[in-house]
Amino acid sequence: MKKTVEIVPQTALVSRALSVIIEKIQQAIEQRSRCTLALAGGSTPKPIYEALATCNLPWEKIHIFWGDERYVPPEHPESNQGMARRAWLDHVPIPDTNIHPMPTGAGEPTVDAQKHDEELREFFHTSIGEFPAFDIILLGIGEDAHTASLFPHTDALKVRERLVTVGNKDSQPRLTFTIPLINNARCVIFIVAGASKQHALCKIFAPSADDFTYPARLIQPKGELWWLIEESAGEPLKGQY
Ligand code: 6PG
Repeated sequence: MKKTVEIVPQTALVSRALSVIIEKIQQAIEQRSRCTLALAGGSTPKPIYEALATCNLPWEKIHIFWGDERYVPPEHPESNQGMARRAWLDHVPIPDTNIHPMPTGAGEPTVDAQKHDEELREFFHTSIGEFPAFDIILLGIGEDAHTASLFPHTDALKVRERLVTVGNKDSQPRLTFTIPLINNARCVIFIVAGASKQHALCKIFAPSADDFTYPARLIQPKGELWWLIEESAGEPLKGQY
């Protein structure tokens, strides 16, 4: 694993994240004629998605997925799919068949998790026991050091044989990529902003801390690991990076 940590001014986070993401998209297309990109949810990535909407990229070669999803319909204000479509995907000529949202329509999260597991295996032509390698997975972290919908001390953290499972935030179900799927990615990019994330970052970067208490510590991808950290979040780490 190659780890890069950058602490950047608040005014530079979007432009730096955009340049890294575009570089990795172009690398994937050069090497494999396509890019498979899984998006983070929440609020931090929204301005980055809005900036991607202004870019001229070979959209027909880019496939979009989500690393996690709230268990709501896409038109719901909490939907990660809905946020990315409104901020970005509705504004670029990307084929609809290149957009692979997590399904949330079965009324039972485990059914939709299984369905998306199968959808991913079909897309990547991987069988049970194998893990596809996404070119890029974008992630954020919560103040509790969760990532995707892998929350502290939840069963989702223990799932090793599936691609997609059910996460739980305050008993609200979510769908999420599993640890082994994320860790099989060629490039994982964390994008973190805000002083409220300082404590979580300290625990994630600490030489030792409980992984199940601070789940983002479990993200150790086989490929590249990037941390793009806005300076107010990264204050405690300054001097180390
Ligand atoms: C989600 C996310 C989640 C998010 C963090 C940070 O569905 O909410 O995927 O893991 O990345 O909670 O969220 P903010 O960017 O809003 O702080």
